[in-house]
Amino acid sequence: MSEQIKYVMTEERIPLAWYNIQADLPVPAPPVLHPGTGKPIGPEDLAAIFPMKLIEQEVSTEREIEIPEPVREIYRQWRPTPLYRARQLERALGTPARIYYKYEGYSPPGSHKANTAVAQAYYNKQAGIKRLSTETGAGQWGSSLAMGCQHFGLECKVYMVRVSFDQKPYRKALMQTYGAEVTASPSEETAAGRAVLAQNPNSPGSLGIAISEAVEVAAQDKDTNYALGSVLNHVLLHQSVIGQEAMEQMAMAGDQPDVVIGCTGGGSNFAGLAFPFVGAKLRGEGYEKIRVVAVEPTACPSLTRGQYAYDFGDTARLTPLLKMHTLGSEFIPPAIHTGGLRYHGMAPLVSHLRTLELIEAIGVQQVECFAAGVQFARLEGILPAPEANHAIAAVIREANRCKEEGVSRAILFNLSGHGHFDMSAYTAYLSGQLKDYEYPEQEIAMALAHLPVVAS
Ligand SMILES: Cc1ncc(COP(=O)(O)O)c(C=O)c1O
Repeated sequence: MSEQIKYVMTEERIPLAWYNIQADLPVPAPPVLHPGTGKPIGPEDLAAIFPMKLIEQEVSTEREIEIPEPVREIYRQWRPTPLYRARQLERALGTPARIYYKYEGYSPPGSHKANTAVAQAYYNKQAGIKRLSTETGAGQWGSSLAMGCQHFGLECKVYMVRVSFDQKPYRKALMQTYGAEVTASPSEETAAGRAVLAQNPNSPGSLGIAISEAVEVAAQDKDTNYALGSVLNHVLLHQSVIGQEAMEQMAMAGDQPDVVIGCTGGGSNFAGLAFPFVGAKLRGEGYEKIRVVAVEPTACPSLTRGQYAYDFGDTARLTPLLKMHTLGSEFIPPAIHTGGLRYHGMAPLVSHLRTLELIEAIGVQQVECFAAGVQFARLEGILPAPEANHAIAAVIREANRCKEEGVSRAILFNLSGHGHFDMSAYTAYLSGQLKDYEYPEQEIAMALAHLPVVAS
């Protein structure tokens, strides 16, 4: 079939195991450090807030980690997700490029975040935990965890970054519908929240602050654990179902990607799509010339303008130290309409791959991103999440380059979620109110001045 649009697989093709890139790295990623001693942390340091199975996955160097059957059973609700060929977009751009996208907005909450939410809820239930606490920026992660908790009979407490709480009331309603308790962050409920509010009662919040609140709550209650929607190795691991499926679907299309593109907040949808391809390249199984591009907002440019250093994952400095590209844990990003990309750091594994020059990174302004998202919606019919618009903007740049050079390359990107709850952002764009934002060098330098000093 020459004009096929969708490459769809049956449920048996859901991967049996997650793919762990730590098995194939030419140089191991730097360890997570204890802030007090400067020494690598042990499992017991994390046991107060994570179940042991997830702690094991965090440090595992096994290439394949079996997906438990109860998790695969829930994945069947939406996995395998379809791979689309963006033929309407290709035609409109007049490009010789072949553009493909993996559509993770197909999941019930609307994004890739459900892939790890279900797994994390499962392992916590197995460990006898009664409640999970978490943060959410865009609301996609909070909705996913709320759904995952429902599946396994856990309570769910979500600290939602204040600016998103105000911009996206229906995301909050969805989380509540799934049974979660949602609080705007910073809140009066925690010492971390109260400290921020004391300094700035109108704080728009940030993922770093919301993480502090959720971790604090989990650390103080033995029945409550903490769940993170991105950044950590085990989260990226769970997302590898995306890339593994995409590999098979690209083969169904009789094609191979030359360029793989994903937007990056904490790095999980990007890694989920890209790492299986990077792994195959590292093992010498093809894809030698593949280019892998991470796309972030110029308003929160951790990979492109941050420093590769040990830093805290949260603002109140409750987490261990992660080696990552960071803008400083005190960084409060401007209130751009892309809640899921407003995080000060980048996943240590994504950062590590960047330093090994296995991936590239670019920053894109939000007006270009929304223009790309609107063009995509008008041509392909799917309304992308604002986060995914960053990937689409980069895809359009690549496709135009193919046109200029007169070469046909296959471009694969992750359409990480739909934007049905993001209409206030689209309304702002359509009425000309959205403005570009580049973070001033001086403010980045100020935030970075407070990076922790690591004992040696
Ligand atoms: C739809 C969507 N895409 C991307 C992201 C960014 O997160 P990550 O880099 O972990 O994929 C988010 C985060 O909330 C999201 O909701």
